[in-house]
Amino acid sequence: MESDCYHVPEMQALLEDLAPGEEDYTLARAIDPGRLPAHIAIIMDGNGRWAGRRNLPRVAGHRAGVQAVRAVVETSARLGLRALTLYAFSVENWKRPPAEVEMLWRLLRIYLRAELPLMMRHDIRFAAIGRLDELPAFVRGELESVVRKTEGNRGLRLNLAVNYGGRAEIVDAVKALVEDARRGAEIDEAAISARLYTAGMPDPDLLIRTSGEMRVSNFLLWQIAYAELYVTQTLWPDFSRTELLEAILDYQRRDRRFGGLGAARARREDALMEAAGLSAR
Ligand code: FPP
Repeated sequence: MESDCYHVPEMQALLEDLAPGEEDYTLARAIDPGRLPAHIAIIMDGNGRWAGRRNLPRVAGHRAGVQAVRAVVETSARLGLRALTLYAFSVENWKRPPAEVEMLWRLLRIYLRAELPLMMRHDIRFAAIGRLDELPAFVRGELESVVRKTEGNRGLRLNLAVNYGGRAEIVDAVKALVEDARRGAEIDEAAISARLYTAGMPDPDLLIRTSGEMRVSNFLLWQIAYAELYVTQTLWPDFSRTELLEAILDYQRRDRRFGGLGAARARREDALMEAAGLSAR
C-alpha cells in the first residue's frame, strides 16, 4: 500500500518549531509530505550497551531510552504520521533479571503518567498491543487508563508493544479465525489482518532498528511483509529527532515495487521488448 499524506498541517507545525539553518529544519524541509510513511515501527535496542559504555546499570539505559521515546513520539505526531509502533517489551523479555523487569514496569508507569498531557496536546490516540492479560495488574491499569483518556483523539495512533510477540499474535489470531471459519467466514489475507492486534491500521511502511542488529526479533511478523528496513548503529537512548528525519528521507529515496517493477522500469522494459520484437501485444 503506497502511503498517503494524512496531516500536512502538522508537518508545517514541525517546521514552524524549528529555526532555518538548524540541521533538523533542513532535513524536515527535504521530506516530501505527500510520501510520508503511514506507519513506522521501531525496535528500540541498545539501552543496555548504552549504559554499559558509561559503566552504569542497565536500568540507567532504559531511563535514558525514555527521552528518546518522547522525542520520537512528538516528532511523529508533528509530522502527521498515521501510526507509530514501539517495541517496549517482548514475550521473551521475561527472561531478564526480575529487578530489571520490575524497573521497566515502573518506568512505563512514570512515562504514561508524564506523557498524557503531550498525547492530549498532539491529539495522539494511545493503544497497547500484546498479551496484556499477563501483565502485572498495576501496569495493565495504567495502560488501560491512557487508552481510555486518549480514545477520542484522532491524530497519531501510538501503539506500545508490551509483552508482545509476533508468533503469539499470530496464534491469537488463528484461534479467532478458527471460530470465524466455523461460522462460515472466508479466510483470506484481509481476514487475517483483521484479527491481528493492529486491525484497522495500515501496515508499517518503515521498520527502524537501533544498535545495529540485523534481526526482526519476532516483531510484527505478518505486518512487515513489505516494510522498508532501516538499521542504524545508534543505540536507542541516542536516537534523536534528527535520526528519525534521516530515516524518513532514506525511506523516501527507496524504490518500492511490491514485487512489481515500478512504472519507469516497466515502461523501459516494454520499449526493450518492442525493440527486440518480443512484445506480447
Ligand atoms: C532494548 O535494549 C530495550 C528494551 C528491551 C526495553 C525498551 C524500553 C525503553 C526504551 C524504555 C522504556 C520505554 C517506555 C515506553 C517507557 P536492551 O536492554 O536489549 O539493550 P542491549 O541489547 O544493549 O542489552
